[in-house]
Formats: sequence, structure tokens, C-alpha cells
Amino acid sequence: MGYTLAQKIIQSHLISGAMTKGEQIEIKIDQTLAQDLTGILVAQFIGAVNPKALRTEKTVFYCDHNVIAATSEAADDHLFLRTTAERYGGCISKTGNGICHFLHCQRFAAPGRTLLGSDSHTPTSGAVGMLAIGSGGLTVAECTMGEGFKLTTPLMMQVELTGKLRPGVAAKDVALEIMRLLTVKGGRGYILEYTGDGVSTLSVSERATIANMSVETGAFTGIFPVDEQTRSFLRAQQREDDYIELAADADAVYDKTLHIDLSKLEPLVAKPHMPDHVSTVAQAGSVIPNSVFIGSCTNGSYLDIARAARILKGRKVNKHIDLTIGPGSKQVLAQLIEEGIIQDLVHAGARIIECGCGPCIGIGQVPCFQGIAVRTSNRNFPGRSGTNDASVYLVSPETAAATAVNGYLTDPRTLISVGMMDGLEEPKTCPVDDYGIITPRDVPTSEKIQVIQGPNISDLPTRGTVREEITGRISLKAGDNITTDDIVPSNPDTIKYNANIPRVAEYTFTYVDPDFVGRAREMKHSAIVGGDNYGQGSSRESAALLPMYLGVEVLLVKSYARIHKENLFNYGIIPLVFCDPLDYEHISVGDDYVIHNVKQSIESGEFVLEFPAKGLQIAARLEASEFDKKLLLLGGALNYLMSKN
Ligand code: F3S
Repeated sequence: MGYTLAQKIIQSHLISGAMTKGEQIEIKIDQTLAQDLTGILVAQFIGAVNPKALRTEKTVFYCDHNVIAATSEAADDHLFLRTTAERYGGCISKTGNGICHFLHCQRFAAPGRTLLGSDSHTPTSGAVGMLAIGSGGLTVAECTMGEGFKLTTPLMMQVELTGKLRPGVAAKDVALEIMRLLTVKGGRGYILEYTGDGVSTLSVSERATIANMSVETGAFTGIFPVDEQTRSFLRAQQREDDYIELAADADAVYDKTLHIDLSKLEPLVAKPHMPDHVSTVAQAGSVIPNSVFIGSCTNGSYLDIARAARILKGRKVNKHIDLTIGPGSKQVLAQLIEEGIIQDLVHAGARIIECGCGPCIGIGQVPCFQGIAVRTSNRNFPGRSGTNDASVYLVSPETAAATAVNGYLTDPRTLISVGMMDGLEEPKTCPVDDYGIITPRDVPTSEKIQVIQGPNISDLPTRGTVREEITGRISLKAGDNITTDDIVPSNPDTIKYNANIPRVAEYTFTYVDPDFVGRAREMKHSAIVGGDNYGQGSSRESAALLPMYLGVEVLLVKSYARIHKENLFNYGIIPLVFCDPLDYEHISVGDDYVIHNVKQSIESGEFVLEFPAKGLQIAARLEASEFDKKLLLLGGALNYLMSKN
């Protein structure tokens, strides 16, 4: 029996364990990435351990989210990341140089290597045949300092692509079709491996869009085979030396297979408020947006923007639409300028914004009250745009451009004439310029660098080892599909105070339950009850850290999203699941509970929560590896790493 492509990479990086279904394994991580929101904790963690040197081949910090620095806090964060990278031998991508995922794919991603990023869309680098996985910042910091990445052996899902996309139908429509088929939960436990003759028709930029959104299904990652498209992309990036031959064995066995005929796809849209709420654009009904955004790590490539520009060229943006375009990297921007495409966009009435995340996460272009936005980004959870009652529709760049022209959600094929999109392809040469990346070579005396931690960056909160008996009250009862945006909303305030834990803690769950913070503080020790797929979405570990800071010690839910569960272990919160999901109905906010023999329960994985006032006992399970149990007993990953160093 042969190996899949992902299994080959795992096998070649295996540190411990056997690659058998359900088994815990540990793999070596070659590269890590972190960005200016989640990366602060990575940097703090590295600083707390103070290693002699970083142990990865490449560690790259990106200043890409809070690029405008409307207040000093963001500039402080960027300075902190830069001085940490310089002090410990990492690379730093300067503010405005581009969005971490697409830029990493351009400048660092390599076939057959492993990447762990403190951002859920790290799988973007799977476009070049790299095993690229998102995780929490503490886990990334650990791997940066030489630990292996621990995971349950993933299942393999083959996504077989056949045929060829028709003009006006884009890679984003493939990604949305996968969302329609798998939903936000259907990929859990899997790596999505793209195969089939349709793959060779997709450029690396298009693959990046699909790999990027693989994570929205709950999957570990998505990965594409290495082929001539990969070689051509790496050559254009002046990195052909990174090319290696790598493919799944002909007799590779997959646990599940999806088939998608590219030639049958139509332009699709994910309607509010989930990326799996997908219909065709033609059937979506009347949608009249206030704004349109083309960009993000999903659709900020040269090809994305050039295709949108082809539709906009010679036309005007509707007068009631605010169209903003954010290139994914400086290199993309330079190429668009060199080819006169920016000129076409500006003449059409588009606003060009910096190469950064921006509107995707509510940093600028925040919709108006009850606003409607059409965007090419990857998430449309409530509040993600910075306005809780806004409605966000996710589409391809072509659909976004056509919508901007007409003023209503439009199937781009109605504006595309025969031959109009001809000749648009992935560039064979690119204006490569790494001036915006500071590498260890630029800092010969790193040991003399002082890490500068601005006043807005609070110290890492720690907790002691686990208590033998846990008592507390239920501080929140949440429903299904709670996102990390629900737990820590992304808006200008939370982003500004991202590194200031006492300040940002005030926003915890504000959109879900505005009384949560006060209640949790008053209870001092508490537990949260939730439904299915708790913690889906972004990797932000503040969604574990802030509840911990507010005294949450236990979570009891029906199921978890992978990265969030890892973060809970890292911060010493015990993540339990109901043995009988119907017990969810019996618990209310304010209920007192007690858990006896906590250490023994962690070891055995079997818990009983007693609710004395109700005369109720609820059985719960801890699904954890031996390492996860160790973290819980020690009170979290920081205590673990400090105990080792
Ligand atoms: Fe940035 Fe949005 Fe991607 S916040 S990393 S562009 S998901």
C-alpha cells in the first residue's frame, strides 16, 4: 500500500509514534510563521524561555494585520516583533510588505517541507506541496525552539479535481464548492489532498486560494501535488532550487474521496454568516452592498487582481459602492504597477489600500450599521468585519468586480465577453525584492539587540498547577459553531489592545453575552458549556487565554475545533466533552459544580461533574494525548517549557 503526498512528508519528518489511524505522532517542523496579532504571544513566549538560538530553518514574523498603526500600540507591537526576531535569529517581514500566508508562499514555502504557523490560514503554502498547518502561538513558539509538533495521525481525504474552470469561474468558486460539500465541520480530522487532471490546469496562486480555505472545513490543512506549475512558480520567485519531485504513490489509499468537475462549476457565494452557507450567485437573490473588497490572503494574488481589473477596465464602479483593493504582497503591487493594471483600477474608481489584512479582520473598511459587504476574504462570521450586525458575502475576485460595477451581486459571466479574459496567467517572471524582509544576515550582532516591549504589551499571564478539587459555577452556556471571533471579537479596539491582556479581556464574548465578563469575574472560578464545533475559525489563542485570565478552568462542550482545543491545553483549561450530548440541556448559567480527583481524572480521561443543587451528575470525557495531559497537570505550556529550560 502506497503513501499519499501528505503521508510522505509526515513520514519523512516523524520524530515519534507510528503513522496509524488515531495514533499520536510528533513531527519535525522546518519553518514557522507568526503575525502581528498572534505573534506577540509567540515572541513573549520565546523571550520568557530565552533560548540561545531558534531551532527551525526559518522563523518568520510578519507585520501584516494592523498595518495602518492608527495608534502607537500597533507600532509598539511591530517593534517588539522586530527586536525579538533580530535578537533570536528570526526573519521579520516589515509592515506593508504583504500578508503572511501569500507572502510566505511566494518567498519561503518549499515542497516536501513542514510549516507551522500561528494563524489558521497557514495551509496556504500547501499550494506548493508543503505540509503547512495552523496552530496556537504557544505551540508555534515551542516548535520554533525545537519541540516537535504533536498531532493525531490525520485521515486523508482525496479531493479529485477534473476538467477545467470556464471563464468567469474562479479558484474561489472551487473553494466555496468544497465548503458547500463539506460544511465547516466536514474536514475535521482530515488533510485534504488535491489530485486529478484538473490540478494541472490551476496555477499556484489559484491553488493557494483553495489550500487557504481548506481550513474552513475544519481540516488540518490542504495540499497540492508538486508539478510543472510548482516549478514555474518557484522559478518566477527565483527559487527553482527549492523544487523537488514529490507526488502521492499510484496506489495511495485515501479514507474518503470527493469529486469535483471544474468545468461544471458556476460562480458561487457564501452568504451570511458562515462560509458554508453557499449558493450560486445566480440563485442568491437580490444583494445590494455598500462596499466591495478584493484582497486578503485568499484572493490577493496578481492573477486575482488582474482578472478583477480586466472586468473593471473601461468601466466605472457604481456610485453607491466603495470598492477597495488590497494586493497580497508588495511584489504583487509592484507587478500590477509595472503592467499598468493599477492605473486601470484607479480609473475605474477603486481605492488601493496597503498590502495587508485590513478589511478581512475589521482593520479599516468596517461596514456601516447593518451594512452589506461583498468580499473575497474567507470568513463571514458575525462581527468578523468589525460591525456585529453587518452582512458579509464571500465571492471570487471576478464576482466582486462585476458586483462593484453593477452595484448589486452579479454573476461575472454577464460582463465577460468572449476572449476578454484570454492571456491572463500566472507571471513567468516576478519583480522579486526582499528588501522588506530583515533576515539574520542583516543583524550580525544579534546578542546585542535589546528586545523593546512597549507599555501596551502586558506580561504573560500564568497559572499554577491544576487543583485536586475544582469548584465553580457555569459562567456561559453557548450554542453550536461558536467561533473564536465570537469569543474575542475582531474590531479596532480589540486589535489595538491585542497585547494588553487586562484591557482586551473586557471584550471577551461581548457579542454573545455582554454580561459574561462581569459574571466570570464575580464567580472567580467558572466553566463554560457549549455545543458542537466550539472554537472554530481563527487560531487566535486569546480565545483560550482570555477566558483563562477571567477564571475559566473547564470547558464542557459537544465537540471542539482542533486548533482551539490545542490552545485550551496550552493555557491549562480542561477541555471536556459530554459523554451524553443530551446532558447539555440540564445545565444552566449560574449552576454550581464540583469535580473531585481532578489529577486522577486527567490521567484516566474520565470525569464526573457534580451539580449539588440539582442532585445531578454528568459524565464527561477528556480526549487528550499523554502530552496534553502533562500540560494540564502542569497548568499549561508556559509552565511546561519553563520546567524544561
Ligand atoms: Fe489576514 Fe484575513 Fe488572512 S486577517 S491572514 S487576510 S484571514
